[in-house]
Amino acid sequence: MSGELSPIDKAKFVAARKAASFVEEGMTVGLGTGSTAAWLVRCLADRMTTTGLKFRGVPTSTRTAALASDLGIEIVSLDEARWLDLTIDGADEFDKDLNLIKGGGGALLQEKIVATASDQMIVIADAGKKVDNLGAFPLPVEVIPFGWQTSKALMEELLVSMDVLGRKTTLRMNGDAPYVTDEGNHILDLHLNRIGNARQLALALNQVPGVVENGLFIDICDVVIMGFGDGKIEVHDINQGTVGQEQIDFLESDNLFTDLAD
Ligand code: A5P
Repeated sequence: MSGELSPIDKAKFVAARKAASFVEEGMTVGLGTGSTAAWLVRCLADRMTTTGLKFRGVPTSTRTAALASDLGIEIVSLDEARWLDLTIDGADEFDKDLNLIKGGGGALLQEKIVATASDQMIVIADAGKKVDNLGAFPLPVEVIPFGWQTSKALMEELLVSMDVLGRKTTLRMNGDAPYVTDEGNHILDLHLNRIGNARQLALALNQVPGVVENGLFIDICDVVIMGFGDGKIEVHDINQGTVGQEQIDFLESDNLFTDLAD
């Protein structure tokens, strides 16, 4: 089956399906943003329908909130939930310590707050997201619109003293206009190529006036479930120090997922 699914979609789907099995009755679950997280939302809705699983979701973007509501998942805000059992989200890159770059989809601020307010964070990703060093993917930094060009200049000055290979910064655009986040802010993408000290950079960036948050997730992720196009998954658990492998079978009913659009 699943002839219609591309290998990358299969990889995302099997990672999402495995992650969905971590959700237990009555849990409050952070729902990430992006194409992989959208698979997760579908898999959770499927579990709800087929097993009667009851849980509450805290979405990390208006996009995810809309998808989850459409699929009948009970949604609560972070202020209502206060604390979560688990957050499951995608990532743009992860390294061997399970530190991440996130924010390619522009939702890094809500994603970081929700993940940090969770007992556990599980990242789901296709194998292409694994890197030796963070930084090939441009690092998103959310800035307030007021004086963003000054924030950009201050950030470029800061980068001179940081252990990075590139220092170009660009304002993310949406057509002809600057991209606007769910909080009404802009995003600067930092083209660093290689980040030598991600922890130091994450701390320093948040000191720049106008910066709201950056897309480096340091010591936040507990588990990465990495999917492959042949249905294999690897579960990297940083707390246990283990890497497990499993094969996830595709079922005829999985064709339900082929119409998924992020
Ligand atoms: C959203 O802001 C991001 O942090 C996403 O989690 C990340 O970009 C991964 O997205 P995909 O699953 O679409 O690759």
